[in-house]
Amino acid sequence: MPSANADNPQIPLAKPVDQIPVGTVRTLRRKARECRACPLWRHGTQTVFGVGPEDAPVMLVGEQPGLQEDLQGLPFVGPSGGLLDRALEEAGLPRSALYVTNTVKHFKYELRGEAKLHKRANAAEQAACRMWLAAELLRVHPRVVVGLGAMAAQTMFGNAFRITRERGQWREIGQDTRGIASWHPSAVLRMPEKRRREEAYGELVRDLRAVAGVL
Ligand code: URA
Repeated sequence: MPSANADNPQIPLAKPVDQIPVGTVRTLRRKARECRACPLWRHGTQTVFGVGPEDAPVMLVGEQPGLQEDLQGLPFVGPSGGLLDRALEEAGLPRSALYVTNTVKHFKYELRGEAKLHKRANAAEQAACRMWLAAELLRVHPRVVVGLGAMAAQTMFGNAFRITRERGQWREIGQDTRGIASWHPSAVLRMPEKRRREEAYGELVRDLRAVAGVL
């Protein structure tokens, strides 16, 4: 299975990326505000860029912002962020030391009456947004990248990757970067069966603890 980027081995993403913007995280965030590379900018309140120290040793990569993230302009501040915070605390990973971002930087939804229902970004939207994640990875250069959920994991490890089978396994990605994937907090929250939900939450904490262990 491919792991490092075929065009640029410095980018620890299996999927192709072209035209990577360069600059400090602050500059990248400013440039991303004006991004029109896919139609999602028309719907979202704002671009939700990554946050955290520019030299963070660990980058957490989620899928895409939800309603709360869209309104506040920050990643993982809604219900899944609440679960993530709890898991990070149990794992001994202070969120303030991590760079937290998403694979796609805009909220995508469909209107059901007044309600904005989350809709998954399609392959073209993910591809258009990948330059921003690649830019964050080049700038922050984390030692460890944690993919939360299938979208992030497949961006790092390729489309054959399955969270159910391969979560919690370390892989070398790029030159001096290791990657690992785990459950997406929303996937844990959505599991209908309490026992399975608790089990998946435990697995998420265990995977994050493994990350804390390498720091
Ligand atoms: N889900 C994500 O993948 N990212 C967020 O920022 C919020 C919810």
